[in-house]
Amino acid sequence: MRRIGMLTSGGDCQALNATMRGVAKSLYNMVDDVEIIGFEDGYKGLMYADYQVMKPSDFSGILTQGGTILGTSRQPFKQMRVPDENGLDKVESMKHTYKKLKLECLVVLGGNGSQKTANMLSQEGLNIVSLPKTIDNDLWGTDMTFGFQSAVDVATNAIDCIHTTAASHGRVFIVEVMGHKVGWLTLYAGLAGGADIILLPEIPYDINLVCEALMKRSKAGKRFSILAVAEGAISREDAGMTKKELKEKKKSSVIYPSVAYEIGARIQETTGMEVRVTVPGHMQRGGEPCSYDRVLATRMGAVAARLIRDKEYGYMVVVKNNNINKVPLSEVAGKLKTVDPQCSMIQEAKMVGISFGDE
Ligand code: F6P
Repeated sequence: MRRIGMLTSGGDCQALNATMRGVAKSLYNMVDDVEIIGFEDGYKGLMYADYQVMKPSDFSGILTQGGTILGTSRQPFKQMRVPDENGLDKVESMKHTYKKLKLECLVVLGGNGSQKTANMLSQEGLNIVSLPKTIDNDLWGTDMTFGFQSAVDVATNAIDCIHTTAASHGRVFIVEVMGHKVGWLTLYAGLAGGADIILLPEIPYDINLVCEALMKRSKAGKRFSILAVAEGAISREDAGMTKKELKEKKKSSVIYPSVAYEIGARIQETTGMEVRVTVPGHMQRGGEPCSYDRVLATRMGAVAARLIRDKEYGYMVVVKNNNINKVPLSEVAGKLKTVDPQCSMIQEAKMVGISFGDE
């Protein structure tokens, strides 16, 4: 009997189930006498031995289902070496569960933090195969993460809906898109939705340049404008401050619910334009995976199963130039794939007249 553990970790996204289905179906097809153990709520299930023995039927009918049939939770990497409230050593406990269940390998579907933990477990001697999950598309080593394209569709749809009401009322609208550190989702949804201004964490904005771009549109007779703003968009002023200075500034200034509201207030003050803010929030992680993600998930799942069949461990499955491949976990763990402000996509966006608030 070959017994394989599986868990989904960190913030959820579309196509987690589709990916697990891809792994499971391929394993059942390619490997004789295999059993899959599903851990509940991510690494927590591995720590506290909360699991279920999965049946092949558990993986049927879930290709299009959002969320994760195993549940997930955030277990910050930084806290992994810190004992829990009962003094439990989390890393030792995960190793113990793995050994007690006589697992041959653990399949981890996770984003950045989860890949770091996967790498640590691999270095601790566990056999790991991981898969790149996140709507942020910020994992180094892969062109695409599953979940990203589905989230782009949701965020784009939000911008599309805003377009009609913005046009009717002649207002400035800000759509705040998820992504604290990395702006891929905002960049793609902004382009797909025809946003006039896109603000990303990687390109600190100057509010005066943002207002100038809005005034220019207004003078050109445009009745409305749409900004796609990442959750982590930051002004030049703030980007130039130390963490301590930022903390001090926050103490003494108005507290806004999120960055979009702050930018909205500044625009209204400076230009007198009527501004509204829309935050699609976790809708971006919900609902069915799009067809691109279903395909990617199925392909990645199959390759993960092949790695397990061939006992090739310590890798994350990736897609490069439309080929599904593997990269050592030690190479990807802890590395963010951010938007390069000089990349061609940004240049092309600027060519069609989109402002990033930087020039
Ligand atoms: O990493 C995925 C993500 O959706 C980010 O885009 C977002 O900033 C964050 O998770 C939100 O986290 P939570 O669901 O814990 O509020």
